[in-house]
Amino acid sequence: MTKNIAQTDTVRLSDDGNSIEIIDQTKLPGRIHVKSLSRQEDIWHAINILEVRGAPAIGVTAALSMYLAAKNISADQKTNGNPDHMKKERFFTRLEAAKNYLNSSRPTAVNLSWATNRMEKFAIRFFEQNFETDNLTTILKTVDAMKGEALTVWQEDIDTCRAIGEHSLSLVKEGAGLLTHCNAGKLATVRYGTATSVMYLGQEKGYDFKIYCDETRPLLQGARLTAFELASAGLDVTLLCDNMSASLMKTGKIDAVFVGCDRVAANGDTANKIGTSLLALSAKRYGVPFYVCAPTSTIDLNCKTGSDIVIEERSGDEVTNMWFERRIAPENIKVYNPSFDVTDSDLITAIITEKGIINNPSINGVNI
Ligand code: MRU
Repeated sequence: MTKNIAQTDTVRLSDDGNSIEIIDQTKLPGRIHVKSLSRQEDIWHAINILEVRGAPAIGVTAALSMYLAAKNISADQKTNGNPDHMKKERFFTRLEAAKNYLNSSRPTAVNLSWATNRMEKFAIRFFEQNFETDNLTTILKTVDAMKGEALTVWQEDIDTCRAIGEHSLSLVKEGAGLLTHCNAGKLATVRYGTATSVMYLGQEKGYDFKIYCDETRPLLQGARLTAFELASAGLDVTLLCDNMSASLMKTGKIDAVFVGCDRVAANGDTANKIGTSLLALSAKRYGVPFYVCAPTSTIDLNCKTGSDIVIEERSGDEVTNMWFERRIAPENIKVYNPSFDVTDSDLITAIITEKGIINNPSINGVNI
């Protein structure tokens, strides 16, 4: 049976609980392929090459992955001959190694380390508070509880995105022209998306939005993913090259810009897909409200400003070769390929979280 993108979760735990199922986004829009991942190396690779991508989806994948890691470690503990008193320390040392390994798969989206830290802290607390007979028995109980926690992260993602959509809907009118960049859509989360949640919820209410999405060079998340998922859901979406949005803003076709983000610094600067800050600058020039949709798991108070955010740089091949039958740039040309940029907080009209709307983050900060 052909899979329907709207009815297939971007990421989920398999029914038998032994693997993570993701929609392989490198195959879209040509093919909706659900890929099963169980080894930590495969999960790391899937995040690194963007088979699963978008800050919230990366976070959910990481949470499920910590559960799978814990389960594998506990299975080893059952069969190896270590004395019981050594098992607790070995379990948590290996869990920490799994966390550090996963955290190294991509640098910019804070949801990744947010999720792995949450799972590790949960495991430590659960073990301490529920000790029973011996270390091995308690480890096995802890792993069971970690499954529940990972599924909570998964469910929270769905609820969070819906709440972001509801808050966003209060900011726009029926028939509005909305612009988005990259893919902060359902494919970047479990369902709904962050920046696209307003579009899906508007559709439920019969609002007739005119949506524009940038193709988003170099990896084309807008063309391959956002255009695909919105059109598949029956929304009115028009694809643009990355250099076209200012002309639409100037002619009054865009009433609001909604984008996602990978990390929000304490001063309200936000990192998102490369090109986002240019949109924010044009939006300011033409008086178009610029909204950043961010689950609170994306807020990183340890980063004081956007300059503290590590920006991923990717291979130049993505720019020179990847989407062309023949290489389009001269051999050996130097390429600058940062995957994200930082939008200064004073360009942001509001940050929309699941807890509510933060207006003027450069003035009000991001504590919510
Ligand atoms: O490199 P990607 O495709 O993972 O970049 C994704 C984005 O920039 C998204 O806008 C961001 O992660 C927010 S997703 C809700």
